[in-house]
Amino acid sequence: MKASAVIMAAAALQGVAADFWVNYLRRIEVTRYGAPTEVGVAFTHAPEITCDSAMGPKIWPNVGDASGSHPGMRCEPGDDVGFPLYRDPLNVVEFNTLNELPGHHTIYKGRNYAMVDLSGFKTGQCYLNRTFVHDLDCPNEEGQVALTGSSMFFCFSDIWI
Ligand SMILES: *[C@@H]1O[C@H](CO)[C@@H](O)[C@H](O)[C@H]1NC(C)=O
Repeated sequence: MKASAVIMAAAALQGVAADFWVNYLRRIEVTRYGAPTEVGVAFTHAPEITCDSAMGPKIWPNVGDASGSHPGMRCEPGDDVGFPLYRDPLNVVEFNTLNELPGHHTIYKGRNYAMVDLSGFKTGQCYLNRTFVHDLDCPNEEGQVALTGSSMFFCFSDIWI
């Protein structure tokens, strides 16, 4: 392979690696000190989550206001429909991860699930995909981790997560 072909192949791989899944997750970690619950949005490269990775994805909480310096996810209309979708329908999903990736973006059903940043620039193209259900009960050192939820979107984007 010519050097230019190797570079092209590497660039193509990076393009794939930058695409990501947006998941709704609810994680309860039972330990001897209690059972803190985290509920909100998490970003992953693969749509499947296993016990090996159940503690991995960082969960950004549901919030009423995800603007400015307020981290988390805001859904419109925000109806709680319970396991496994938890939030449905998803007309507007705004998430703000502050200085961490992917950052502050909004996905609009009314714009065919385009993902845009604060200045209205299109930063990705998402597809509604609720087909992956997460329902894990995993042992950990002190107790267990219960992880439930579902995929929300798959997004093509140049943003690394
Ligand atoms: C959801 O994503 C999976 C994996 O990429 C794909 O096979 C499936 O067709 C998608 N479903 C929808 C409704 O887009």
